[in-house]
Amino acid sequence: MTTTAETMSVEQIVELSRKHTIVEWSAQAAVDPIPVARARGIYFWTPEGKRFIDFNSQLMCVNIGHGDERVVRAIQEQAAVLPYANPFMATEVRARLGAKLAELTPGDIDAFFFTNGGAEANENAIRIARMFSGRHKIGARYRSYHGGTAGALTLTGDPRRWAAEPGIPGVFRIPDFYHGIQQGSDTTEFVLARTEEVLELEGPKTIAAIIVEPVVGTNGILVPPDGYMQGLRALCDKYGILLIADEVMAGFGRTGEWFSVDHWKVVPDLISMAKGLTSAYVQLGAVGMRRQIADHFEKNVFFGGLTYNSHPLACAAALATIAVYEEDDLIANSKRMGDLMRSMLEDLQARHPSVGATRNLGLFGIVEVVRNRETREPMAPFNGTSPEMQELGKFFRAEGLYTFVRWNTFFTNPPLCITEAELREAFAIIDRGLEITDRAVA
Ligand SMILES: Cc1ncc(COP(=O)(O)O)c(C=O)c1O
Repeated sequence: MTTTAETMSVEQIVELSRKHTIVEWSAQAAVDPIPVARARGIYFWTPEGKRFIDFNSQLMCVNIGHGDERVVRAIQEQAAVLPYANPFMATEVRARLGAKLAELTPGDIDAFFFTNGGAEANENAIRIARMFSGRHKIGARYRSYHGGTAGALTLTGDPRRWAAEPGIPGVFRIPDFYHGIQQGSDTTEFVLARTEEVLELEGPKTIAAIIVEPVVGTNGILVPPDGYMQGLRALCDKYGILLIADEVMAGFGRTGEWFSVDHWKVVPDLISMAKGLTSAYVQLGAVGMRRQIADHFEKNVFFGGLTYNSHPLACAAALATIAVYEEDDLIANSKRMGDLMRSMLEDLQARHPSVGATRNLGLFGIVEVVRNRETREPMAPFNGTSPEMQELGKFFRAEGLYTFVRWNTFFTNPPLCITEAELREAFAIIDRGLEITDRAVA
């Protein structure tokens, strides 16, 4: 057996993890975790020393890259002085982080409620919307993921919702603009007209908010057509409905702007964030609100609370992470490398018959794999897999490229610190891997 510095063998690490801990969203017999011991920059290593390119930033969250000493030091220093203070206290890191986020977030968003992650940010966003508006319904799309807790899973449109049904009352669906590789996208005018129809049918005065991922993450890196986000904002204004932007995955430079709504200069009423906020060095989420909503809670009770709200370690990690984005100009690097990624994705599509579509905005990218270029039949069905997609996943793993392979797609979401050489290294592996799926093309 191979032993690690911790004197546990790799086999033991995997075996005990599998036996005594539960892996999310999986039948446990099917899981085959990669043992991971350390990480740096865009790479991580197994205890045996096999190196992987982290082409998914773990869970699209380690945006600044792994092992940044500036963040590690900030966490250590905070831990040495004050690792915890309860949420009714004021701390310097909490004060600084609130003020910094007010500076970075769009428009007049300037008050934040801190949570442990994205799902809780969304739970609080919908509760805030309900408390503020006095209305109860929330509209969300099918092609979406908003988190694994009761309310957030009800908002979620993808199959992860099914087992949690019936879920919380009051959630309805607004139309998607994308319908899969074979049906493609609707025009902005069409989807907005359908959305307005749904709002009218639901009764606008019963609707507290609409929640969207401005750029959809796990459900396909779906960049909305031009004018869609502005149109949604206008519809919300017309009917007095709040707009919630779920920026948990798309925020903090992932798309080449601080927040993905910045691409369209749209100011949401509520913005949820997590992941890139600390680059996952410590868990932290937040929901930000416009001044008018924050003012509502001057006289009205904010009914919400968490033991770890405004956790000092997490606030320190977030402040240090934001300083890294700024010092290393990572938002601009995401844009620059994203432009390069687009040309590399287009090149793959030109040369590989199994590449049916590619999309990216900044370093938020995806490849849709097809069996047939004419019919655009996906290489795996909706919510399913196929021998070819499984083989592609195995090839990436064997070659030391870590990314999500989901249904007929795989993701290209590296840390924002990636260099051109590292990007080319990853795409060279992808290029060879696609020969597997090319062989299945009719
Ligand atoms: C868009 C979006 N919202 C919410 C969440 C939930 O965040 P968390 O897992 O931190 O609760 C995720 C997680 O992937 C996400 O991608």
